Amino acid sequence: MRGKRLAVLVAVIALVNGASTADAIVGGTPARVADTPWVVAITTTDGQLICGGALVAPDKVMTAAHCVTLKGVLGKNQRPAEQLRVVAGRTDLREKGEGLEEAVASVWRHPEYVEVTKGDDVAVLTLARPVPYRTIGLGDPGPDGVVLGWGRTAENTPPAMTLRKVTVPVLSDQECQLKEPDYRPGAMLCAGRGGRDACTGDSGGPLVVRGRLAGVVSFGRGCARADEPGVYTRLANYRQTLGF
Ligand code: ARG
Repeated sequence: MRGKRLAVLVAVIALVNGASTADAIVGGTPARVADTPWVVAITTTDGQLICGGALVAPDKVMTAAHCVTLKGVLGKNQRPAEQLRVVAGRTDLREKGEGLEEAVASVWRHPEYVEVTKGDDVAVLTLARPVPYRTIGLGDPGPDGVVLGWGRTAENTPPAMTLRKVTVPVLSDQECQLKEPDYRPGAMLCAGRGGRDACTGDSGGPLVVRGRLAGVVSFGRGCARADEPGVYTRLANYRQTLGF
C-alpha cells in the first residue's frame, strides 16, 4: 500500500518536472540516434532533460551557454560540471540500457554570454572520457537545415524524451531582424516557419546544414508560432574562439 502510494507520488512529480523542462521539436518526425550518432542529450545526474548538444570531438560537446547557466539571486552562475551528464547513443532517454552516459570534466562558456537575447549563447563541455560515437564538424548556414532534439512537441506539452527532427527554412538576416528585435546578424541565425520549430528542451541542440553543424538552438518566442522563427547561435562566427 505504502509502496504503491509512493510510486504514484513519484510518477506525479516526474510529470510535473517533465512539463517544466519542455521546449522540443514541433512539426517534426521521430529520429534515431543511429542515423545522427553525434547528437547527444544533456541531463541532470538524475536523468532530467536539460538540453541537447552535438559531439564535435570524441570528448567535446557543443551546446548553448544558457544550458549550463543557473539563474540565481546572485546572478547567472555557471552550472557545476558535476551536475551534468551527457547521454550518447540513446534515442529514447527512458531506455537506460541504450547508449551510454558520460560525466562532464569541465564546462567552457562563452565569456561574453549574459542572456540568450544578447547572443554568444554557446558553450563547450569536455567529457570525463571520450565516447565512441561519430562526431560532426562545423559549417556555414544554407537555405534550410534540420534541427534535432528530445524536447517539447508543442508549447505546453512535456518533453518528447524520444529524439525528433524537423527541416526548417533558414531565413535571411533582413527577415530575422524584422521578426526578432534582438536579432544580431552575423552572430545569430534564425529558422523555422509554418509550424516547424525547435521548442523547450531542444536548446543547445544542433541545426545541421549540408551535414555540418551550423547552429545551436538558442531561443524563441513560444514555439512554432506564426511569424516567430527560432533563433540559433551562428557557429561560423565563433570558429576562432572555439578552435573548431
Ligand atoms: N530556450 C529553449 C530551451 O531551453 C529553446 C528555445 C527554442 N525555442 C524555439 N522556439 N526555437 O530549450
